[in-house]
Amino acid sequence: MLIWGDNKLVMASLLRDLKGRIDLIYIDPPFDVGADFSMDVPFGDGNETVAKDQSTLETVAYRDMWGKGTDSYLHMLFERLTLMRDLLSEKGSIYVHVGPNVSDSVKLVLDDIYGGNGGSASLIWKRVTAHSDSQRWGVIHDVILWKSKGEHYVWNPQFEPYSDEYVQSKYTHTTASGRRYRLDNLTSPNPRPNMKYVWRDCEPPIMGWRYELETMERLFAEGRIELPKKAGGRPQLRRFLDEGDGVPVGTVWTGINPVNSQANEDTRYATQKPEALLERIIRASSNEGDVVADFFCGSGTTGAVAERFGRRWIMSDLGRFAIHTSRKRLIDLQRKLHEEGKSYRAFDVYNLGRYERQWWQKEQLKGADEDHRKIVLAFYRAEPLHSSVSPLLHGRKGLALVHVDSIDSVFSRVELRDVTKAAKESGAKQINCLAWEFEMDLRLEAHSLQTELGIEIRLLRIPREIMEKNRKEVTFFEVATLEVEAVYKRNGKDRNVDIKLKKFLPSLAEVPERELEALEQRAIKHGFDFIDFWAVDFDYRDGQPFKHHWQAYRTRKDRSLATVSDQEFAYEKPGRYTACVKVVDTFGCDTSITVPIEV
Ligand SMILES: C[S@@+](CC[C@H](N)C(=O)[O-])C[C@H]1O[C@@H](n2cnc3c(N)ncnc32)[C@H](O)[C@@H]1O
Repeated sequence: MLIWGDNKLVMASLLRDLKGRIDLIYIDPPFDVGADFSMDVPFGDGNETVAKDQSTLETVAYRDMWGKGTDSYLHMLFERLTLMRDLLSEKGSIYVHVGPNVSDSVKLVLDDIYGGNGGSASLIWKRVTAHSDSQRWGVIHDVILWKSKGEHYVWNPQFEPYSDEYVQSKYTHTTASGRRYRLDNLTSPNPRPNMKYVWRDCEPPIMGWRYELETMERLFAEGRIELPKKAGGRPQLRRFLDEGDGVPVGTVWTGINPVNSQANEDTRYATQKPEALLERIIRASSNEGDVVADFFCGSGTTGAVAERFGRRWIMSDLGRFAIHTSRKRLIDLQRKLHEEGKSYRAFDVYNLGRYERQWWQKEQLKGADEDHRKIVLAFYRAEPLHSSVSPLLHGRKGLALVHVDSIDSVFSRVELRDVTKAAKESGAKQINCLAWEFEMDLRLEAHSLQTELGIEIRLLRIPREIMEKNRKEVTFFEVATLEVEAVYKRNGKDRNVDIKLKKFLPSLAEVPERELEALEQRAIKHGFDFIDFWAVDFDYRDGQPFKHHWQAYRTRKDRSLATVSDQEFAYEKPGRYTACVKVVDTFGCDTSITVPIEV
């Protein structure tokens, strides 16, 4: 499950169903004060990029986090770590990945919340070999703080390969077939009188043999016991290098490199952590089928590793781009697992949007719907209509009338029709509908209403930025346009179906203002260049999760994108169906549309 939103609200909403049910939490909250999270997002063939600024919501989150320096950072973490404790199961563990600049303080907070009964350690991950700090010791590591919730926690010891030096000095013997081994004694660690027997003319040690006679004989037959070369010597146990577990991993982790730009796992997410790091954590502190969570998931490393190792996972992030990157990464992984004949689980992407807005309305607007409308109209620079002819018309901007949808509803086609009719009756030539969310396919409905009633309709999304405290200006963007058609193919008696993209005009809501003008023309002419991912659910049912029957997306290496699906979807029975097409643009914004199918 992938959830887009502030993790404080995400966790509060998960508590109802998942209290005490998450077995492992790894978090990697941003710990670089003022970290620059803007990045270049490739589009089209990848030779061009759009600079993606940190979104306003991300900016606010970072400011809240760092506004009062370490104090506000620790406060932010305290609230979240407390929620995480409530979500953790009794056998669960939490790992908090932080920089050395804050690790001491975070450890105190963690100890305070989790107490001192369970397992606990500060793991040092050596990230780089050197860092040139001329006036102090170079900082070359991160700290990962581990805490178990209780005394009885999941623990699977991890091992790393022996170093060459260790092998050379310890595994000094070789069998005729070339297997390296070292010799260990066959003495029992505790006194065992019943193990005192003479074996192959050798007197037993004072404590007795390590094994019973039968086992000794079996081991000897397997070539695992070496007889003494001289009389009076002792037989010894051969420990083979190729059967050794390796060295138990301790608190200093040196063998894991950061993700480099050539690595297959690289997603271009600035703060992405290596999969090997998460692999060690997930294997050590969870078992197959357990639930693993990461509430600051970034590029989705935790979920990708959890999926590969048969764990269930929950991830969340505040950033739209993080959610988009994680979604693509997990879908890509599923495709690979499918090709390898391995199992994987379908997952859903959730949006906390409405929940977040309700919280804003309650906290900031003290619940008043009227105030919400006033604020939206003020940001839109529209004049409120006081003695309106219709309760559906709320403002006027130039020659257009304006409707503001309420904060926790999805603007539907029924509402659109009522609002447009009301505007028409008031003599307006244009109606601008402002809403937080629009029902699917509303663009198509708007087109036909426009023709039917002869009035121009604009659908504009209310930007999340208006929830920001000191915000003065925002831009309202039209919703994206998506047109598709069904392609029918005859295959013997059956009719197979595919979907063709006909038109896509992205919403440029996420584009920084300085690039807007240049991109607008480009978007009109070559809208498909802005599609990063698209998927089809050939048998869509209202209210049910979207099923990815077919999907296509650009990868870092392959920038091409099919615009017609090649699924040849065969429906079991003739009849009427609905296919749903979902497009995600380069900025991570979703647009969906349905298309009727008749077979
Ligand atoms: C250091 S990155 C995590 C990188 C991740 N470990 C990976 O391997 O890609 C931190 C992430 O925390 C997210 N974040 C920051 N504040 C958040 C909040 N309040 N709720 C949810 N996510 C948040 C940021 O958007 C960012 O993606």
